Amino acid sequence: MFSSQNPSVFLAFALLLLRSQPSEARLLQDASQLRAQYDYIIVGAGTAGSVLSNRLSADPKTSVLVIEAGGSPDAIQAIAVPFLGVTLPGTAVDWNFTSTPQEGLNNRILRYTRGYVLGGSSSVNLMAWNRGSDDMWDHWARITQDAGWSWKAVEEYYFKTSRIVPPADGHDTTGQFVPSAHGNGPVEVSLPGFPTQLDNRVIKTSKQLGGRFHHNIDLNAGKALGFSWVQSSIGQSKRSSGATAYLEPVLNRTNLDVLTNTIATRILPSKKSPLTLNIVEIATSGQPSSARHNITATRELIVSAGVINTPQLLLLSGIGPSSALRTAGITPILDLPGVGQNLTDHPFIPNYFTVSSNATFDDVLRNETIFTANTQAFMRLPKSSPLLKRFGDPSSGPGSGHTEFGFMDGFAAFGPLPPPVTGHFLTLATAVVSPLSRGNISLNSTSPFDKPLIDPAVLTHEFDVGATVQSMKDAQNFVSAPAWDGFVVAPFGDLAQATTDELKVAYARKYATTVNHPVGTAAMSPKKANWGVVDPDLKVKGVEKLRIVDASIFPVIPEVHPQAVVYTVAERAADLILRSL
Ligand SMILES: Cc1cc2nc3c(=O)[nH]c(=O)nc-3n(C[C@H](O)[C@H](O)[C@H](O)COP(=O)(O)OP(=O)(O)OC[C@H]3O[C@@H](n4cnc5c(N)ncnc54)[C@H](O)[C@@H]3O)c2cc1C
Ligand SMILES: *[C@@H]1O[C@H](CO)[C@@H](O)[C@H](O)[C@H]1NC(C)=O
Ligand SMILES: *[C@@H]1O[C@H](CO)[C@@H](O)[C@H](O)[C@H]1NC(C)=O
Ligand SMILES: *[C@@H]1O[C@H](CO)[C@@H](O)[C@H](O)[C@H]1NC(C)=O
Ligand SMILES: *[C@@H]1O[C@H](CO)[C@@H](O)[C@H](O)[C@H]1NC(C)=O
Ligand SMILES: *[C@@H]1O[C@H](CO)[C@@H](O)[C@H](O)[C@H]1NC(C)=O
Ligand SMILES: *[C@@H]1O[C@H](CO)[C@@H](O)[C@H](O)[C@H]1NC(C)=O
Ligand SMILES: *[C@@H]1O[C@H](CO)[C@@H](O)[C@H](O)[C@H]1NC(C)=O
Ligand SMILES: *[C@@H]1O[C@H](CO)[C@@H](O)[C@H](O)[C@H]1NC(C)=O
Repeated sequence: MFSSQNPSVFLAFALLLLRSQPSEARLLQDASQLRAQYDYIIVGAGTAGSVLSNRLSADPKTSVLVIEAGGSPDAIQAIAVPFLGVTLPGTAVDWNFTSTPQEGLNNRILRYTRGYVLGGSSSVNLMAWNRGSDDMWDHWARITQDAGWSWKAVEEYYFKTSRIVPPADGHDTTGQFVPSAHGNGPVEVSLPGFPTQLDNRVIKTSKQLGGRFHHNIDLNAGKALGFSWVQSSIGQSKRSSGATAYLEPVLNRTNLDVLTNTIATRILPSKKSPLTLNIVEIATSGQPSSARHNITATRELIVSAGVINTPQLLLLSGIGPSSALRTAGITPILDLPGVGQNLTDHPFIPNYFTVSSNATFDDVLRNETIFTANTQAFMRLPKSSPLLKRFGDPSSGPGSGHTEFGFMDGFAAFGPLPPPVTGHFLTLATAVVSPLSRGNISLNSTSPFDKPLIDPAVLTHEFDVGATVQSMKDAQNFVSAPAWDGFVVAPFGDLAQATTDELKVAYARKYATTVNHPVGTAAMSPKKANWGVVDPDLKVKGVEKLRIVDASIFPVIPEVHPQAVVYTVAERAADLILRSL
């Protein structure tokens, strides 16, 4: 396609192509075009950063700069076309992180995708749209001792994020969602637009089985529990992301500067007492050899670099566990032991079954280059589960799940098993959505251009291992229901031999990966708590003028896919910031 060395020019061009209308984007690539200072500086034009860029620049008198490491539009078609979402990991729009060898997974190393492009991970994710149960938000309010995070208080912000639009095939969606549970914000959300032969079987089975497998019209209407249609951040058959929904429509604002292909390398103090951290050091063109510039945010510096890069930037700046920083060769400026800790992710196990149908996606592309999941389910462990007795209930409450099912009409090559060269398959992916394993992010070097060490500690807690076994049993029972007669033939490969709990654990350790839902590495905690990184207003504890707004502030992992939660947090954060003036 294009071959120029100037990614920013391409980015502007590609964004123009997407909307096919002229824009006066101040998309900058050269620090000489920057103002001396801005009211607000946002690090990371990702999911949360896009929301903030839009909301904070709404008043034309307020100057806003957003700094984004990525920017190349090379993969723009794969970004826009929902089916191609799975082709994005490992391309120019991925940071290409990997995990440390995972003890719980036979020391396997996992790919750990994060978006490196405007819109961040919302530009590369798989688009499932879940806002979390009411319980989840009320749990956040309890943990942070701040009623501002309760569902009652947060609902208006969720309504500001998104709206339901017609599905790609224009089918009648009456009875497939609850209209009053949705708002009128910029992210377009739709029901599945390409029916598969699984959909009716899934819905029929859940209606037949009921109980733990009951049907739920809308997983975004209060209880994130039961079997339902997947709502996705897709509108007019295109991905709707932070970039397309929030950022691109306001690029004509002359008070908003978007600096792409630029890495924030350090946060610097403007004052020692009270410690005021509102200067950001950047490297334009994102190379170790690039010139550095210091830019000041007169009101606030906001870090939205995501769950990996936010703690890395803090640690590089001397904000974190002081003794570990000294050992790493960094002078501490603020002792915050929680930075990089409590990394939490959802472990994910692909259960494959051979099917008698020739109409799966397997023959279309015998690899992982297309993907669609039309149905989704969250369920609780059986009330009698010994796991609940032994570990307590780690979920947010009775409207939240412990495990998840996702159905794919073909062999979805998540995890290490390559697609077989022949055959037709059903993939029933199961995940643990209330895991108790906790990992961490730490520095591997003092260079902002080196990757940090990422240890999600997958399947290191016995609860997660036990819940995985339960979810695998549930999967086999589910596809043994009458609606699947004559369709599902048998478990495929090693799953066929995984007949005991022990063998199921071995299967999980061999084939599990994560769902790319890491959170919690700069967690929010009550104002006076001696743990956590930010207070319930998302201000970094013990300093002035520095906030964090992204998935790293989550106090606990949502029992759902997290992007809608990130958007909602960012909408509320924008309001907190503007009201604090
Ligand atoms: C492959 C994949 C599939 C997923 N599927 C789903 C799904 O189906 N549903 C769902 O709800 N969630 C899904 N998620 C998770 C969801 O996308 C993320 O939780 C969410 O987008 C995170 O938002 P964020 O604002 O915290 O970070 P991000 O959106 O990742 O934004 C961080 C931004 O900061 C930039 N940045 C980082 N460091 C610097 C620096 N030093 N200087 C300048 N810029 C910097 C990054 O380039 C990026 O643009 C998926 C994620 C992935 C990766
Ligand atoms: C990720 O890897 C791909 C393939 O090697 C490469 O093209 C891309 O530039 C890498 N991404 C980053 C941010 O370096
Ligand atoms: C930017 O474009 C939008 C949509 O075309 C328009 O409504 C808005 O007034 C424009 N804003 C500026 C500052 O030009
Ligand atoms: C940025 O500020 C730091 C700390 O005061 C200083 O060491 C550095 O030289 C400054 N960089 C530039 C480019 O001015
Ligand atoms: C991790 O989170 C828990 C609360 O869930 C908290 O008690 C603990 O202090 C945190 N750990 C660190 C190192 O901050
Ligand atoms: C699938 O295709 C094979 C080979 O062409 C054929 O023998 C079989 O009957 C087909 N099965 C179904 C369910 O259509
Ligand atoms: C896998 O997908 C790629 C597109 O990325 C395609 O070129 C290739 O032919 C596919 N492989 C097979 C075996 O179908
Ligand atoms: C990260 O967690 C692992 C256990 O999963 C532990 O061994 C390691 O010491 C931790 N590292 C840091 C920097 O906390
Ligand atoms: C950490 O640093 C070492 C030494 O430079 C290097 O060999 C290793 O690949 C790095 N690890 C990661 C995950 O980047």
